[in-house]
Amino acid sequence: MGFNDLLSKVPSGLLVGFAAVGLFSVSSKVISYIRLLLSLFVLGGKDLRKYGKKGTWAVITGASDGIGKEYAIQLAQKGFNLVLVSRTESKLQTLAKEIEQKYAGSAVKCKVLAMDFSKNDDADYAKFKALVDGLDVGILVNNVGQSHSIPVPFILTPKDEVRDIIAINCIATLRVTQLVAPGMVQRKRGLILTMGSFAGWMPTPLLATYSGSKAFLQHWSTALAGELKGSGVDVELVLSYLVTTAMSKVRKTSAMIPSPRSFVKSVLAKIGRSGGAQSIAYTSTPAWSHALMQWWVENTVGFGSALGVNVNKGLHESIRARALRKAAREAKKQ
Ligand SMILES: NC(=O)c1ccc[n+]([C@@H]2O[C@H](COP(=O)([O-])OP(=O)(O)OC[C@H]3O[C@@H](n4cnc5c(N)ncnc54)[C@H](OP(=O)(O)O)[C@@H]3O)[C@@H](O)[C@H]2O)c1
Repeated sequence: MGFNDLLSKVPSGLLVGFAAVGLFSVSSKVISYIRLLLSLFVLGGKDLRKYGKKGTWAVITGASDGIGKEYAIQLAQKGFNLVLVSRTESKLQTLAKEIEQKYAGSAVKCKVLAMDFSKNDDADYAKFKALVDGLDVGILVNNVGQSHSIPVPFILTPKDEVRDIIAINCIATLRVTQLVAPGMVQRKRGLILTMGSFAGWMPTPLLATYSGSKAFLQHWSTALAGELKGSGVDVELVLSYLVTTAMSKVRKTSAMIPSPRSFVKSVLAKIGRSGGAQSIAYTSTPAWSHALMQWWVENTVGFGSALGVNVNKGLHESIRARALRKAAREAKKQ
C-alpha cells in the first residue's frame, strides 16, 4: 500500500487536526524567531535615566577588572556616580582616579571598597553597609563571580574552590542585594542586574559547582523580580556565553566571543528585553551571537537534554586535558 492509499484511509477530521497542530507549532517558532530578531536588532531597552538622574549612584561588585570594570566605565559615561567593590584596593583606586579624571566634566564621583567576598566576613559587609547607606543607589550590578581554575570533575574539586564559588557567586550576591535593595524599594526606583552564565542555563559537566551556582542565581533573580514587580525596582539576570576576560582566559575576540566593552554595551542598551532568553522571565541574553546560539539550542537539541549535556561534557573534557598538558609543560620548565 502506497503513502497516498494510507493517507486516504485516515479520517479527514484527523488530518485537519494534524495540520492545525503542525501549523501552530511552526508558526509559534517563526513568531519566536521574529521576536528574537526584533529584540536583538530593532527594539531598544529601557532608558537608564528611569533609575535616577545624573549623580545617582551605581554599585558594582567585581568592578576592578573584566566585565565589572566595563560596567563601571559605561555607567560613569552615562553620568552615574560609582561605588566600586572588589578584592584589590590598588586596582580600585587606579580605576576610580581614571574615571573621575575622564568624566570630570560631568563631576562623576567614585567610592571604593576592597573586600574579599570569599571570606564572607560580617565586618566587611558592615563596611559595605556603612558605605552605601544614605546614598541614592539607582543601579546595583551583582557582577562578582568565580569559576573553577580549570574544568574539574566534581569529586576532584578542591573543597576551598567549592566553598569560594558558593560564597562569591551566591552568598555575596544575596547579602549585597539585601543591603542595597531596601533603599531602592523605599525610593520606588532601581535596577538590580545580576551576572548569570550559559553554564547556569545549560548544565555543564566539569564546571558543576559553578554551573549550579549560576543556576541558583537564575531562579533567585527571577523570583526576586516577581516579588519586586510593581515596586519600581526592576530585576534582571544577564546571561552570557564567553567574553574575553581573565576568567574566560580567551584573549581574541570573535563573533561568538565579544570584548567586555561590546558585551556591556549590549547589556545596557537592552535592559528589559529578553534577547535570546525567551524561556524564563526577567532574564536577558543581550549579545546577539550568544542570543542566536541560545535560541537554536533551545529549539533543536533542548538546553537540558542529555545530548546537550554530553556535548558540553566533551568540550570541557578537552579543555581540561589541554590545561593539564600546559601545566605539565610549565612544571617541566621549572
Ligand atoms: N568572562 C566570561 O566569559 C563570562 C561568561 C559568563 C558569565 N560571566 C560572569 O561575569 C562576571 C564577571 O566575570 P569576568 O569574566 O569579568 O571576571 P574577571 O575578569 O575574572 O573579573 C573578576 C572581578 O571580580 C573581582 N573578584 C574576584 N574574586 C573576588 C573576591 N573574592 N572578592 C571580591 N572581588 C573579587 C576581581 O577583583 P580583583 O581583580 O581585585 O581580584 C575582578 O574585579 C562573573 O559573575 C562571571 O561568572 C563571565
